[in-house]
Amino acid sequence: MADTALVLAIDQGTTSTRVILFDQALSIRKTAQQEFHQHFPESGWVEHDPEEIWSTTVAMCRQAVDSAGASAAQIAAIGITNQRETTVVWDKTTGRAVYNAIVWQDRRTAAYCESLRAAGYETDVTARTGLLLDPYFSATKLRWILENVEGARAQAEAGNLLFGTIDTYLIWRMTGGKRHVTDATNAARTMLYNITKGDWDDDMLTLLDIPRGMLPEVLDCAAVFGETEPGLLGARAIPILGVAGDQQAATIGQACFAPGMLKSTYGTGCFALLNTGTAPVFSTNRLLTTIAYQLDDTPTYALEGSIFIAGAVVQWLRDGLGVITSAAETRALAAKADPHQDVIIVPAFTGLGAPYWNAECRGAVYGLTRNSGPAELSRAALESVGFQTRDLLEAMMADWTGPAGQNVLRVDGGMSASDPAMQFLSDIINAEVDRPQVLETTALGAAWLAGSHAGVLPGQAEFASNWSIERRFSPSMNEGARDTRYARWKRAVAATMQV
Ligand code: G3P
Repeated sequence: MADTALVLAIDQGTTSTRVILFDQALSIRKTAQQEFHQHFPESGWVEHDPEEIWSTTVAMCRQAVDSAGASAAQIAAIGITNQRETTVVWDKTTGRAVYNAIVWQDRRTAAYCESLRAAGYETDVTARTGLLLDPYFSATKLRWILENVEGARAQAEAGNLLFGTIDTYLIWRMTGGKRHVTDATNAARTMLYNITKGDWDDDMLTLLDIPRGMLPEVLDCAAVFGETEPGLLGARAIPILGVAGDQQAATIGQACFAPGMLKSTYGTGCFALLNTGTAPVFSTNRLLTTIAYQLDDTPTYALEGSIFIAGAVVQWLRDGLGVITSAAETRALAAKADPHQDVIIVPAFTGLGAPYWNAECRGAVYGLTRNSGPAELSRAALESVGFQTRDLLEAMMADWTGPAGQNVLRVDGGMSASDPAMQFLSDIINAEVDRPQVLETTALGAAWLAGSHAGVLPGQAEFASNWSIERRFSPSMNEGARDTRYARWKRAVAATMQV
């Protein structure tokens, strides 16, 4: 192992593009981050400009390398992790996208999904793809582009257009259009990929009328995805050797490699993944079945629970209500909340995700008194994340009959930095919550995939044994209080869905 080998991890997320340079000790040498524009052309629509995604990616890669005083020659490999499901269609000759990227949050295809559900397709779709018939996934977004962008269907059928999730689009651009590829975890989020057969599903393509020729080749998460065009990051071509969707990369970065191991990432939303091993577990509790990672041609599956609003509830306190000026304030405020009040926020701002999947309901606050103020709302915001996580874990445990893992939840993402939020989480789920030393687990996962494939980072067993925690939270709430509070939350959710 050359002493100078570095690994560049690109984390192309929903609101910003981050690039992190890791060394061989997996220490962070440099981070560069840039937010980009969110476009909301109609209510419920969310789009990104693919050119802006591309330009921020290149700019952040260059900034990370330059500010570390590194040279491209030192970079052994690039790993890419990305916001999942977000859909781009571009012309393979000009490289121009035919429409903005339609973001995973976008609900424009809700009525179409509902019509497929009403026609009885959901059971079959789930059996093939592991997913539910929801606008969240790429397939109906891709179909929308083909149906609504002038000339797109004819161009696609003539073989001139390519489809990709963000990983695929970035790799195509980085390799100068030479490689049209994705990895199994991103493929598994399109609703076009048969997760048991490990191939694009012809029946899904027929149902949605999508030409197969638009789809990328699917590779393992650690594989040769291509190499950068010389000049992009210095004279040398750098190999791209690792790719995974961001929640899957976080699962890897949390070293959840054994069946029963569980991670939860608290960003804008919250995504919990339970490693279920090499056989898929199909949920009877409205969770998703997905590919956690695929190495050496062998998929490892996961059950996934997706909550759309986690950290975003704190943003709402700051930007919507204006009762705090920074997210960090909630910690101190929550500690001052009146213990005799029990304010509950059900943050169904865009409906509820797993396990309720109710797109129509909207948020609610319960238990307000004349003494309720920013402190009680702050505590309720932090607690809403714990309650929602317990909803997911209850559904997971009802589906899961395998080993119990270590009865520990590994957490990461911005909100995991909040001690009161993590303590309440531990209390309400009645399990230990481990916060790792490296909180950048998403980028770490992508870096490890690429670096281990390049031979400059340790293998899976050594990576897992080096993984270490910064702090463990243990449950301290008594059982009676826990049961009472959770029962109250369930009644609040039920009431919210009825209004
Ligand atoms: O499924 C959506 C998820 O991948 C988005 O993650 O962190 O970019 O909001 P994030």
